[in-house]
Amino acid sequence: MRLFIAIELPTGLKNELERLRTDIPGARWVPTEQLHLTLAFLGEVAEETAGRLTTQLAEIRAASFTLSFSGIGCFPDRQRPRVVWIGVKPEPNLLKLAAAVRQSVFAAGIFLEERPFSPHLTLARLKLPAAAELRAFIDRQSRITLKPFSVREFTLFQSRLTQQGAVHTPIRDFPLPGSKCPAQADNRLS
Ligand code: 2AM
Repeated sequence: MRLFIAIELPTGLKNELERLRTDIPGARWVPTEQLHLTLAFLGEVAEETAGRLTTQLAEIRAASFTLSFSGIGCFPDRQRPRVVWIGVKPEPNLLKLAAAVRQSVFAAGIFLEERPFSPHLTLARLKLPAAAELRAFIDRQSRITLKPFSVREFTLFQSRLTQQGAVHTPIRDFPLPGSKCPAQADNRLS
């Protein structure tokens, strides 16, 4: 199975990102329901290994945190854009979670590329060279502000490749400890 680990986004944020879409030649916009923050892309994993992975991921004890956004840009750069992204602030607890996920993946016996974690939300992938429309889009959105949100879990996803594109299915959510709502915490104290 083809797997990745990501943070799911609130529907309101996904809808807001959808409203940014504009006509850029060669751009394939990520379907709204599929917008996510990738923590690790694992690729093909045997079912038995996936079982070991879920056990490892369930042992992660990382704190919940607030995810905030910053800027817009392209990978690898504006001259040869392949991916258009929204920047994610490298909040220490996000980096700790990404490192813990990576460690769990290794512990499950899965090989990961040595690429450093560069948090971003992919908005679109580009098949054609940089277009004037893309530059105008990036300039227009350079001061975009998006509402931060509270991350209380991360998710293991399966990605099936179909002729219509990738289909993402959540396999399991992993709550972040310390993310109990205050009402629950109060109940325990009383
Ligand atoms: P990104 O869009 O945040 O860069 C699920 O396929 C996710 O895994 C993608 O959205 C992509 O995250 C990330 N990914 C990283 N390397 C990938 C690869 N070689 N093939 C497909 N997805 C990859």
